[in-house]
Amino acid sequence: MSDLLLLGIETTCDETAAAVVRRRGDGTGTILSNVVHSQTQDHAEYGGVVPEIAARAHVEILDHVIERALRAAGLGLPELSGIAAAAGPGLIGGVIVGLTTAKALALAAHKPLVAVNHLEAHALTARLTDKVPFPFLLLLVSGGHTQLVAVTGVGEYTKLGGTIDDAIGEAFDKTAKMLGLPYPGGPAVERAALKGDASRFALPRPLHGKPVPDFSLSGLKTAVRLEALKIAPLGEEDVNDLCASFQAAVVDILADRVRCALRVMRERGLKPHALVLAGGVGANQAVRRVLHKVAADGGTRLAVPPPELCTDNGAMIAWAGAERMARGLVDGLDVSPRARWPLGEIESAERGATERGATGPGATGPAD
Ligand code: KG4
Ligand code: ZN
Repeated sequence: MSDLLLLGIETTCDETAAAVVRRRGDGTGTILSNVVHSQTQDHAEYGGVVPEIAARAHVEILDHVIERALRAAGLGLPELSGIAAAAGPGLIGGVIVGLTTAKALALAAHKPLVAVNHLEAHALTARLTDKVPFPFLLLLVSGGHTQLVAVTGVGEYTKLGGTIDDAIGEAFDKTAKMLGLPYPGGPAVERAALKGDASRFALPRPLHGKPVPDFSLSGLKTAVRLEALKIAPLGEEDVNDLCASFQAAVVDILADRVRCALRVMRERGLKPHALVLAGGVGANQAVRRVLHKVAADGGTRLAVPPPELCTDNGAMIAWAGAERMARGLVDGLDVSPRARWPLGEIESAERGATERGATGPGATGPAD
């Protein structure tokens, strides 16, 4: 099969991103360009992402970001094999901006469109960076998502567990806000934790030992708040100790829940080639350290894309687009943006090929 060159567009949250990726016939890939415009500054004063501000910022900057990605790759639209965009899940205003732009480009340049699920893109990134074969266990931990997923093929995702309340990144962000640390909270909490005493506060580890690998973070967040109230006003050392105790609890929770998910996979007869860590929380060194050990203890290895590919980016969308296109999975221009789009509802290669009558890897042009 010949090489595929995909443009990928990401606008589901507060990153406006575009990238060009090449996928070779042997299944390996190369990132030709990867441009990310972060809106962090636009949202910082609100302590979180404001959907209307995000959508407007995507509209203003996306064309420019795409132009830069194409220029950096040294390619024009005619040379591309297809245009991929994140079609959800995410903040709907932003998703509409990205997907509509991709449709316009696909129509104007007569290229196939691939509507990519943002979570699927996180899941498949490790195949680009680490050539991880199927099956693998995905731990997706970001500001919006906390999921453990058995990945058995492109489009074949089985959610093993998720959070019943807050996402882990969200818990980092809320803890930071509560303790007067800047947004985004993850890096700030990690920095403070390095200087703190993790044994000072006994914080809960919700759902520890439960047989289904779900997460619950709100009780931990509340416990941090109660401890903070008890010793208020907080000095710098108090904040550092609270951050260290909070992070230690998160690390324990992750270790226990991932061990549980590895067990569940084994029970289902699946031997994971890797534990893949994705999402912004994957940048946390303490989290990485413990998961290395958990993976090794479970007879597998930890695969973590580099930080710039763990957080939201266009390369993961372009790569997922290429992985889908290589299997004949392309979309019509009538495909809808989706605020909610669980991994289990993604079309897989096998189902797609038979249901659409697509011709496999050779399929070109938007299917309808
Ligand atoms: O994947 P991401 O960039 O965006 C989405 O949420 O989709 O993840 C951002 C999240 C934020 O909640 C941020 O606080 C968290 O990842 N994060 C971290 C660290 N860096 C980012 N959490 C813990 N430790 C970090 N070093
Ligand atoms: Zn994400």
